[in-house]
Amino acid sequence: MEFQPPLVDRGEPGGNHRSWHPVIDSTGRTTVERGNMSTAAFIAPWNNAVGSQTMYCSDCHGSNTAPNSVVPSGTRPWGPHGSENNFILKGQWNAATGGGTRDVPATDPNNGLCFKCHDFRTYADRNGNGNASGFSSVDDNNLHAFHADRIESMRCSWCHVAVPHGWKNKALLVNLNDVGAEAGLIGSTEISITQDNDVYNQGPYYLNAKLKVITFATSGNWIETNCGSTSNQGGTGRDWMRNVCTNPP
Ligand code: HEC
Ligand code: HEC
Ligand code: HEC
Repeated sequence: MEFQPPLVDRGEPGGNHRSWHPVIDSTGRTTVERGNMSTAAFIAPWNNAVGSQTMYCSDCHGSNTAPNSVVPSGTRPWGPHGSENNFILKGQWNAATGGGTRDVPATDPNNGLCFKCHDFRTYADRNGNGNASGFSSVDDNNLHAFHADRIESMRCSWCHVAVPHGWKNKALLVNLNDVGAEAGLIGSTEISITQDNDVYNQGPYYLNAKLKVITFATSGNWIETNCGSTSNQGGTGRDWMRNVCTNPP
């Protein structure tokens, strides 16, 4: 069910929509639909047909593989039999994925699961590897790198859901203004996040989650005021970011 969204959510229909890794069907989100992001933000072969490709469960689930690759090496088996990583994953996925601490940047190669298919330096390095992301604005074509630069560290699960199968919001984004049945809560509940150390942990979907979205932008059109608290706890826009995310765990 997580992997099978309604057809109306393919492509970039605007506003918020479901997101998914393309196991059952492609996303319809080409690099152009994704705000003219760089194809090079995807590692081969995932850069060949962005928007129309599909993948297998076993591209993520299986025996541990070398950094930046989903291909088993040597005599390691193909198929999701077992792994030294949690959840039979081919790489590590935890609250540290992304990496770095203040003034000590993360390094590549890095066995984070995401970086077997998504270019590490595009997403977790403050220079962004010269690539554009769909998380961008008219002024800055890579707001992943911008956040890695400002915060001086980067954790994918601050903003992205911990089970990256398919999700109720666009781009597998968590939204702590709108937490519901998936966390055992009723309706659309706002989680209180008012200072640096506040994070939301509720398995299986929320792992050190931070992000609050007020308005979902179309790819390439994000602005500061899209983010913050809907009830003004800790503010909105840049003020909110400084208040709750100057040095997050
Ligand atoms: C993009 C990578 C990716 C793909 C593709 C993927 N998974 Fe997962 N899966 C994960 C990750 C990461 C977790 C660990 C979630 C966590 O940390 O709680 C996970 C967790 C699971 C779990 C544990 C229960 C849960 O939901 O937390 C099951 C079962 C599972 N996956 C089955 C599948 C099946 C079946 C498919 C194909 C239909 C699939 N996965 C495809 C990344 C992936
Ligand atoms: C085995 C390869 C693989 C791994 C591992 C992987 N991804 Fe992906 N990811 C893809 C592919 C392929 C797409 C779809 C691109 C397209 O539209 O064709 C994608 C799309 C996405 C999207 C956009 C989803 C949408 O609905 O448009 C996000 C966000 C994302 N990945 C985040 C992650 C994160 C975070 C991780 C680590 C937990 C991860 N991915 C791990 C291959 C992977
Ligand atoms: C500060 C919040 C934030 C953090 C932290 C974050 N992302 Fe994102 N990410 C976003 C947003 C917002 C989008 C949606 C862009 C759009 O509208 O298409 C996105 C989109 C993506 C996509 C879809 C392709 C693209 O470039 O738009 C991938 C892949 C992705 N993120 C991977 C990652 C990985 C890997 C990490 C950890 C190294 C990470 N993100 C950390 C906010 C974040």
